[in-house]
Amino acid sequence: MPKDSVHPAGTDPPPESLPQPGAQSAGTLEPAWHHTAVVYQVYLRSFADGTGDGIGDLAGLTARLPYLRDLGVDAIWLNPWYRSPMADGGYDVADYRDIDPVFGTLAEAEALIRVAHASHLRVILDIVPNHCSDQHRWFTAAVAAGPGSADRGRFWFRPGRGTSGELPPNDWMSMFGGPAWTRVTEPDGSPGEWYLHMYAPEQPDLNWDNPEVRAEFEDVLRFWLDRGADGFRIDVADMLVKDPALPDVAGLPAGAKMPWEDQDDLHDIYRSWRRLIDSYPGDRVLVGEMWIRPLTRLRPYLAGDQLHTAFNFDFLGAAWDAARLRDVIDTALGSIGAAAPWVLSNHDVTRHLTRYGRASTGMDWRPDRPATDLVLGTRRARAAVLLSLALPGSSYLYQGEELGLWEVEDIPDELIADPIYARTEHRIRGRDGCRVPLPWLDDAPGFGFGPADGAAPWLPQPPEWRQLAAAAQARDPGSMLALYRDALRARAVRDRLGDDSLTWLTAPDGVLAFSRPGRFACVINISAAPAPLPPGADVLLASGALEDGKLPPDTAVWLRTGGGSGADGQPTSAW
Ligand code: GLC
Repeated sequence: MPKDSVHPAGTDPPPESLPQPGAQSAGTLEPAWHHTAVVYQVYLRSFADGTGDGIGDLAGLTARLPYLRDLGVDAIWLNPWYRSPMADGGYDVADYRDIDPVFGTLAEAEALIRVAHASHLRVILDIVPNHCSDQHRWFTAAVAAGPGSADRGRFWFRPGRGTSGELPPNDWMSMFGGPAWTRVTEPDGSPGEWYLHMYAPEQPDLNWDNPEVRAEFEDVLRFWLDRGADGFRIDVADMLVKDPALPDVAGLPAGAKMPWEDQDDLHDIYRSWRRLIDSYPGDRVLVGEMWIRPLTRLRPYLAGDQLHTAFNFDFLGAAWDAARLRDVIDTALGSIGAAAPWVLSNHDVTRHLTRYGRASTGMDWRPDRPATDLVLGTRRARAAVLLSLALPGSSYLYQGEELGLWEVEDIPDELIADPIYARTEHRIRGRDGCRVPLPWLDDAPGFGFGPADGAAPWLPQPPEWRQLAAAAQARDPGSMLALYRDALRARAVRDRLGDDSLTWLTAPDGVLAFSRPGRFACVINISAAPAPLPPGADVLLASGALEDGKLPPDTAVWLRTGGGSGADGQPTSAW
């Protein structure tokens, strides 16, 4: 999750049929699959309920795999499915080698990977190495073993400050609000040491200076690679290593590197993980969730011997503004390269349709943020996805964005599950609004999230989502779902060209236009006035209707361009 959301600063190996690395095609070397892949993020709990308990699960996902195949994505990334008390939606893992019973069984998970592969879908898992659950056997053993024990050495236990150790060891704050330390009661009943948790108290931070921690996670990676995982999305990948002095941070200048992020020893961990993953066949990937800024700080991790890539969160956070978007695109392509995935939404942020429907169109975590115009947000979301899918590199889609779902902002207080709500004394309602169960059918209870005779979905769906149900949209060629399907089909054809360059074209103020090899161009109008289109171009796909041949505000098109005078026959100017 974004680091400033709670403390705002200002406002089985893959089957042979899947493309293999380095495969020769038409005389060119194809880029690795993950350079161009479209990955669909599955928040399992809210995707589809197969068992009827109101909670999404493996049975539901397996039954809906044909939907994902038809949508046209290349891979799925699953949020944590491990055994967990669910203090933070499964990011508090009690057993990394088993599936939580609410989601299904290990056998079902193995079968899911097999069925996905047979459907030409790769499977990326979510690995959570910064912390585990307070119910993990290591942590319960550490509390029981007492100060100075080897068991405590796997975590960050420290005596408190103050006359009787009643104050936390330092001034670090949890990303979810409140202090990053919790005091334990020692086996003899006395108030004891404190342990570090950068997130909820139920998520004790592991000590990555401890060789047992390193060995254990490599074994966990092997466990899932042996079962066919095509890669890992690494949770809070920049925070595993801490400055062992655990210094106070008060007084550090704004923007200074924090003692829990981007520490030198992290590189060794990822070099070792890369050697491990590269020892498996099939071009598997390591994707970092790293919110460190500026983006250039990601470069060493992506230099070739560590992570394959890291999410491009600047794009996700950018306001709906042509200059800003162009700047984040240029910066990303320049600093982390074309393989940096474009992301508009995920399970930690306000859905982009809602963000774009507000006056402040960037990330806005203020509880009193402005009202939302969903019609405007929808128009912009349609344009935004054509922009992001036209860019060189891979894209991650978050479940439900293809249905045009918005952030649900009126979840009843008593149903809020995100720990941020309690940790901020109910000031910040947290991330449940983007985790509301998907609507599948327009004529069934719970919009077909689960069986008709099953329990209601674990969070209530807005009644207006009836018209957004996947089945309803499948019948409508003008729907958001149809736009995503059309775009993914067109993109699959384009990407066989295997080139990842982009050339900006001259365009009116507030309009972004760029060409890609293969006589392809994308134009998006973020100004307030209709914009002309370049002469002689055929419209392949449009996010909204053209007006008198012009591109209306908040609309994007994909074009097949005529030959031009620039390199590769590309136009040098759109107008
Ligand atoms: C990441 C996850 C988020 C989780 C946090 C702690 O940011 O995306 O959902 O709460 O890590 O694991």
